[in-house]
Amino acid sequence: MFEFLKRNKKNKNVEPIFESLGVDMHCHLVPQVDDGSRSLQETMDCIEVMKRVGYNKMYITPHFQHPRFPNTEEDITNRYNRLRSELKDNGVDMELMGIGGEYRIDDSFADRVANPKFLQIGRKNKYLLLELSLHQVRMGIEETLFDLMMKGYEVILAHPERYPYYSATSRKLHDMKEQGVYFQCNVLSLSGFYGEAAQNKAFAFIENGWVEFLGTDMHNTMYAGALLDCAANKKVQKLMQNHTFLNSKELL
Ligand SMILES: [Fe+2]
Repeated sequence: MFEFLKRNKKNKNVEPIFESLGVDMHCHLVPQVDDGSRSLQETMDCIEVMKRVGYNKMYITPHFQHPRFPNTEEDITNRYNRLRSELKDNGVDMELMGIGGEYRIDDSFADRVANPKFLQIGRKNKYLLLELSLHQVRMGIEETLFDLMMKGYEVILAHPERYPYYSATSRKLHDMKEQGVYFQCNVLSLSGFYGEAAQNKAFAFIENGWVEFLGTDMHNTMYAGALLDCAANKKVQKLMQNHTFLNSKELL
């Protein structure tokens, strides 16, 4: 068990710097449903790392993206329930708070809204986690978000720092904040895992007061290794000491 950690020397003296968050709001640890974990063992290895850096509760949020990940809510829920019991059988001490989804606003999204089965996260399943294309801007995003909020959804935009078409001072992102969209940055953006531009934007958004949530966006053991590095990063440690995020509200 935990072969990954035995091989990885970086896990010595890891600080639990994300303890104040307590809850992870974004990860891909249901095995074999998207580009995340490939096996139960990999999920357990990732969870072990997450515990070492301070997490003890998590929501899991597989991709719902047409046509790349043709997941259904029913199948994901069944697999999540199976994962829960497998983790319990293996003595894994991590509280699974619920199953959500990371829904891509793509060509099929209007159909999802028309026939809603969304898996949502947070207390009383209040939040809908959404992502955009990582490559090209999509027309009408603001209208889509506004329509969702008019329908009563509380919307979290995943990793706004990762969209190359939005700058640190983006008017579009500013308008989303005015509308009431929550932002969730990836913790690994803070240590440069996605490059310098995403790193700078993540810090800028947090300093702007635009970021309510952080997520690991944990996919696999490569991300887990990066999370260990992230927890050892002095700049990230300082930021975690000086900011509070709404993740911790989930602990109440
Ligand atoms: Fe994700």
